[in-house]
Amino acid sequence: MSVTAIILAAGQGTRMKSSLPKVLHKAAGKPMVQWVIDALQEAGVEEKIAVLGHGGDMVEDVLRGQVQVAWQHEQLGTGHAVMQAAPLLPVEGKTVLVLCGDTPLLKADTLKKLLEQHQEEQNAVTLLTATTDEPFGYGRIVRADGAIQAIVEQKDATAEQQLIKEINTGTYCFDQQFLQENLTKLTTNNAQKEYYLTDLISLAVSQGKKLGGYIMADFTESLGVNQRVQLAQAEQILRQRKCQEVMLAGVTLIDPAQTYLDAEVEIGRDTIIYPGTFISGKTVIGSGNIIGCNCRIVDSIIGNDNDIQQSVLTECQVGDECKIGPFAYLRPGAALANKVKIGDFVEVKKAQVGEGSKIPHLSYVGDATVGAGVNIGCGTITCNYDGVNKYQTVIEDHAFIGSNTNLVAPVTVGTGATVGAGSTITRDVAAESLALTRPELKVKENWSKKKK
Ligand code: UD1
Ligand code: CA
Repeated sequence: MSVTAIILAAGQGTRMKSSLPKVLHKAAGKPMVQWVIDALQEAGVEEKIAVLGHGGDMVEDVLRGQVQVAWQHEQLGTGHAVMQAAPLLPVEGKTVLVLCGDTPLLKADTLKKLLEQHQEEQNAVTLLTATTDEPFGYGRIVRADGAIQAIVEQKDATAEQQLIKEINTGTYCFDQQFLQENLTKLTTNNAQKEYYLTDLISLAVSQGKKLGGYIMADFTESLGVNQRVQLAQAEQILRQRKCQEVMLAGVTLIDPAQTYLDAEVEIGRDTIIYPGTFISGKTVIGSGNIIGCNCRIVDSIIGNDNDIQQSVLTECQVGDECKIGPFAYLRPGAALANKVKIGDFVEVKKAQVGEGSKIPHLSYVGDATVGAGVNIGCGTITCNYDGVNKYQTVIEDHAFIGSNTNLVAPVTVGTGATVGAGSTITRDVAAESLALTRPELKVKENWSKKKK
């Protein structure tokens, strides 16, 4: 079957009160228009034309390589938007699926069913509709003896029509020939002085064309996001779907209502996630982990059987059986091998930490390579920055760094070396040696007593 989709995404989205084009607002971590494109892709619709206008350069950047672009420089209505895409339709095209870029909840399965019905019934137009007790704002489906007669927009509807509970989802299949012959017949003779795509329905009726409607079982899928209250509703539903997906795949969520997983996040079996946890971007998490409460994990790769509490991890890698937190901060480029401990108030940036090493409390390790079996005492700092450049610290296997040490980079502490507590290390320390910069302790006996 030859299907071309037209995605309407040129509108300003005035009601969002935003400088970002409406369709780029994210729901569950993905721009709304990307949700629509992904549903089309999953439904097997390869040919896609996006109509762009307001903020179109930004939208084009996001959709590059996924769609053809038609430009609508003035937003004169949904009918006018489709007119701009018409010249890009294939010469021998058959079916045109039109959708809005602001309906992120639509599922591929629903699109497939709509296309099937359209093709089976050989309609000029097949509408995707839904029924709701709160139809305000949507176009209403006017039927006579069950047959669709027209779509009437909220602003044009009579008091009686406003009571109609069947709404237009903004998703339609058109016979391409019918579409191309009739787009030019649309007028702006309505309350909003716009070219309404929805007027094609009454045109089809007046021409005696065959019309169909597919009433969606679940209204929530058709939610059109016009303002931010609806954006939050879409967000909530998409997150619920994602939580259900991972739970059914073997992940325990202590409270799914307080667990925030972006669409593309992957989580393995028997991982347990405590509330207040945000996992976003392209994060991949293995199995048997305990995560949370209150963690934020972004674009990171986490292995198996780790315990991560109240911590923030961004663009980092964690092996297996590590203990992280509470209150650890793993920044981009932190890479932990297996069985590493990163304790409370420890910040790690651009640093590899070898197997079994421990940084249990109050330390900063940045631009560093830490070997295996290293112990880094409380309050240790890699002094990696001289105000202009950054330098590397290397701590080799089994070194012991005493508490409250400053390692002034570039510097290497050799295998098995020990650094005494309170030292400031400015030169390399050879393997197996002791380095100590502590001034000698002086004790003046009875000093306090004499002072008094
Ligand atoms: C539209 C439908 C309404 C339906 C609702 C479903 C019309 C006239 N009305 O109303 O029947 O119930 O969607 O959510 O079609 N757009 C353009 N160019 C324009 C105008 C809009 O590309 O000139 C795009 C917008 O970016 C948006 C989509 O079309 O993605 C829908 O536009 P919007 O203004 O949100 O239409 P609604 O008033 O919601
Ligand atoms: Ca809308």
